[in-house]
Amino acid sequence: MVHNQTSSAPASRADITLSFAETVRARRSFRAFKPEPVADGLMRDLLLDAQQAPSNCNTQPWNMHVVSGAKRDELSRALHAANDARRLTPDFNWDEGGFRGRYDERRREQGAIYYSNLGVTRDDHEARARAASVNFSFFGAPHVALLFMPLVGDGVRVAGDLGMYGQTFLLALASRKLGGVPQTVLGLYAQTVRDVLGICDDLKLLYGISFGHPDETAPANRVRMGRDDLGQSVTFHT
Ligand SMILES: Cc1cc2nc3c(=O)[nH]c(=O)nc-3n(C[C@H](O)[C@H](O)[C@H](O)COP(=O)(O)O)c2cc1C
Repeated sequence: MVHNQTSSAPASRADITLSFAETVRARRSFRAFKPEPVADGLMRDLLLDAQQAPSNCNTQPWNMHVVSGAKRDELSRALHAANDARRLTPDFNWDEGGFRGRYDERRREQGAIYYSNLGVTRDDHEARARAASVNFSFFGAPHVALLFMPLVGDGVRVAGDLGMYGQTFLLALASRKLGGVPQTVLGLYAQTVRDVLGICDDLKLLYGISFGHPDETAPANRVRMGRDDLGQSVTFHT
């Protein structure tokens, strides 16, 4: 049995500026950032928080690579080149057509709200591609985290653990008035990311999170996605 390690040390309360209720409501996907990096000590606190996420049998299968500075710029260039050449190398499929019914409606609503906020029309494919490619500039964030996992079985259980970890990290950011955006699209170029960062093929890329100090005044951050009523998601049994 593995006992207490440094990563389970309590967070320093002074750094946490928002209550839990405020934090979960403050969290949203930011898509424009200020250039200044997150200070080293604060970065460590965020990562210590994320490390508290639960996982199947406490396997802690997350392998997160945080990329900043010149390496971030190099990765961005490589991803833009791979995207321009449509050199897709996903470790996991992204099957938009697989969503049905209300799931599909929500997916379409999100796209419509996102692009209309940017003034991009449905049929302007070039403008849509341009807007989507900002993903590979990490929306101007000074840091991008790439979340890798070992492939165990069909990967579903481990992917669930990585989701828990990613959300804990996003909430850690939100609690300190920082922000991030999860990005499946980075995972579509997994081999490009592995090549730039020198990561072995055994680790599979699930998604990335660009993060930093959000630019709250930027047009890209004007929208807030809604949620359906509780009744759409929760069923009570007695
Ligand atoms: C696992 C995951 C992957 C995502 N991938 C992308 C992405 O590639 N690009 C993007 O702009 N947003 C991406 N998003 C953000 C979603 O669009 C966003 O979470 C959703 O619309 C709800 O909005 P909110 O996060 O602001 O509440 C992703 C979110 C999750 C959880």
